[in-house]
Amino acid sequence: MPSHSWLMLDHESPRYRLPDDLRARDPMAGRDCGWVEQMLPFVRQFSQPGETVFDPFAGFGTTLLAARLEGRLASGCEVDAGRIGLIRERLARHELAQGTTLLHGSCDALDGVPPFDLCLTNVPYFGCRWPGAPAASQLYDSQSYAQHLDGLRDVFYRVRAGLREGGACIAMVENIRLGDRVLPLAFDLARILGSLFVMEEERVLIYPHASEETDADARTDRRHEYALVFRKQRERIDLQATAELLDALRAQGHAFTLLGSFARWQQDPQGTPPADADIRADADPQRLNALLQWLRDHGFALTSWGDPVALPLHLDSYRGRYYFRADRIDSRGALVRLDICYEQ
Ligand SMILES: C[S@@+](CC[C@H](N)C(=O)[O-])C[C@H]1O[C@@H](n2cnc3c(N)ncnc32)[C@H](O)[C@@H]1O
Repeated sequence: MPSHSWLMLDHESPRYRLPDDLRARDPMAGRDCGWVEQMLPFVRQFSQPGETVFDPFAGFGTTLLAARLEGRLASGCEVDAGRIGLIRERLARHELAQGTTLLHGSCDALDGVPPFDLCLTNVPYFGCRWPGAPAASQLYDSQSYAQHLDGLRDVFYRVRAGLREGGACIAMVENIRLGDRVLPLAFDLARILGSLFVMEEERVLIYPHASEETDADARTDRRHEYALVFRKQRERIDLQATAELLDALRAQGHAFTLLGSFARWQQDPQGTPPADADIRADADPQRLNALLQWLRDHGFALTSWGDPVALPLHLDSYRGRYYFRADRIDSRGALVRLDICYEQ
């Protein structure tokens, strides 16, 4: 791919297009099926021949086909049994079924997703209404936007575990219009991915001709969409500013224990630099609230798994989420990151 931050797509090759008979067999008539041409530049730039490309929402197998065409191994998860069959047949017609691993189900609920080098996908849209009885975990059937985002987070959390260190996670997505409301799905997904990976860039894919794939429920007409490019890599933090923050918290009387990599690095500054400072805080809701309030007052953004945290704190709403994250980015772009554990 050239170094542009955009990619103009004006022609879908009939050779690689989802064949009409397979499209006709699909309950949604192939709606939201991406183009092989859309995926090829990303496969080429973000993986090497022989590596494995994974699609957690394998759908019609477009990503998997692009990966196999470029000599990569392909692997994918898909909750809909009919689409699993469709992918097998599509790849077999290209004589590229070998070298492809397909798993039926949602990757967060499956054991045995083999490790991979690149995650490349386009996500299911909210509000699409799957015809007939949807499979369990079918995100097209999410009952609310919040539930949809939670489902996406669960899937990408599992993606993070399977992706090799340094590998890219690329999700294609656009903001959606639902009735007369616009939902910032692309931006909400970027926030979720940002809680799991390090953002590298976004690219814009432009389709000069609007696709005919529109409907009244959820208009995702693909005039343009974003490719959100993230990496699984360690964050670089400002070590000195982080040490100063910990001192300031102690001086303010906030009780906590420093754990993990930052504590080890303070013992041995020649070791691997930590990507955050992990502390175990006093779990008393009032003291925890005072700690978070102090951080907020000193320029920190507070999140729980990518969601903003409201103060005063209602700790019961965060049971089972284990920790809060406090991030402060200064005007030079330097990051101080504190992960505040409040549960075992
Ligand atoms: C936009 S399509 C993906 C197209 C696909 N990336 C391709 O290359 O053809 C979204 C797909 O995600 C599937 N899906 C929805 N929820 C899922 C989940 N929890 N796990 C796996 N697949 C899911 C849907 O059945 C649908 O086929």
